[in-house]
Amino acid sequence: WWRNVEPAPKDYILGVTEAFLADRSPDKVNVGVGAYRDDKGKPVVLECVREAERRIMGSFNMEYLPMGGNATMIEESLKLAYGEKSDLIKDKRIAAIQTLSGTGACRIFADFQNRFLIPDHLQIYFPAPTWSTHHCIWKDAHVPQRSYHYYHPESKGLDFGAMMGDIKNAPKGSIFLLHACAHNPTGVDPTEEQWREISQQFKMNGHFAFFDVAYQGLASGNPEKDAKAIRIFLEDGHPIGCAQSYAKNMGLYGQRVGCLSVVCEDEKQAVAVKSQLQQVARPMYSNPPVHGALVVSTILGDPNLKNLWLGEVKGMADRIIGMRTALRENLEKLGSPLSWEHITNQIGMFCYSGMTPEQVDRLTKEYHIYMTRNGRISMAGVTTGNVGYLANAIHEVTRS
Ligand code: LMR
Repeated sequence: WWRNVEPAPKDYILGVTEAFLADRSPDKVNVGVGAYRDDKGKPVVLECVREAERRIMGSFNMEYLPMGGNATMIEESLKLAYGEKSDLIKDKRIAAIQTLSGTGACRIFADFQNRFLIPDHLQIYFPAPTWSTHHCIWKDAHVPQRSYHYYHPESKGLDFGAMMGDIKNAPKGSIFLLHACAHNPTGVDPTEEQWREISQQFKMNGHFAFFDVAYQGLASGNPEKDAKAIRIFLEDGHPIGCAQSYAKNMGLYGQRVGCLSVVCEDEKQAVAVKSQLQQVARPMYSNPPVHGALVVSTILGDPNLKNLWLGEVKGMADRIIGMRTALRENLEKLGSPLSWEHITNQIGMFCYSGMTPEQVDRLTKEYHIYMTRNGRISMAGVTTGNVGYLANAIHEVTRS
């Protein structure tokens, strides 16, 4: 039956974790997957999550959730992304469902595009580069992919001019995927002023912005600030979509909690769109899981727990920002002739170091340091204990 099945290639990101786990070296360091660690390198369960679990323990049954998911979790998620006082929420203009984290939200949206867009509009524009899994998701959903300029290798910052050119030149009414904050993999975000210009250009071209919101709170430490791009688009009256994830900002990685939302013209359209999003999910996994969504709704629905979360998410963001400074300072102290300014200019979980695939291979082979071959360092895996070792290894492989 399965004689023609060849082993699949290793996943670009999760394959790095597999290789790391198989390594016996005591020096090994995993800065591959974007998963937060404390300063001892240990996975973290937030105190707000523990407290929410204590409160809900034994208080709910194991019945199926409705196809759309946990209604309170969805409502709280919309407030988080669209703003507490959003008229769109009040007017019930947003079609939204609970999803299997951000990946699930992207996949449902991609399949929805495939079902309902006429061939002329059936495409998605990704920033170059983007999260490797975006390509896999939209490929499996049979949505053609295009790319727009984003990262500028020389400055290791944003190629704003080229990006604006691509937005302008794309066929009118194109769908663009935008990273709301903490761009993955580059850590490069537009400034507020640049977001305003992007939004205006979208308006002129009638484009649709689909925001991947995987790191709200983990860029600046403040979820409201990290929603700035979304809010600018909303102020300008765009009908946007959002894929939200609680993997990183609440540390609920394995719980797979997220939310997909699509802004509609009116309540009637939102009801229709929601019913179709549910139809996409039904033959895939029927309905979403109970526990993680209950944790999220308990935290966001209680002012005290929400405050605790806000403090904890800021703590995570601040530790990452501190590690950026430490990595840069260590490299400079070692006398590296290269500029490492971008380590502290970039934001969020990732630093796009500029290292070549060959340099990354050397880091892995000679120093047992694991990361994706595009040179992306997960700053969330850097600690006071390994930053010196990491800096020294980077210095060794990047000196000519
Ligand atoms: C990452 O980019 O490392 C994370 O988003 C984890 C994943 O699912 O790829």
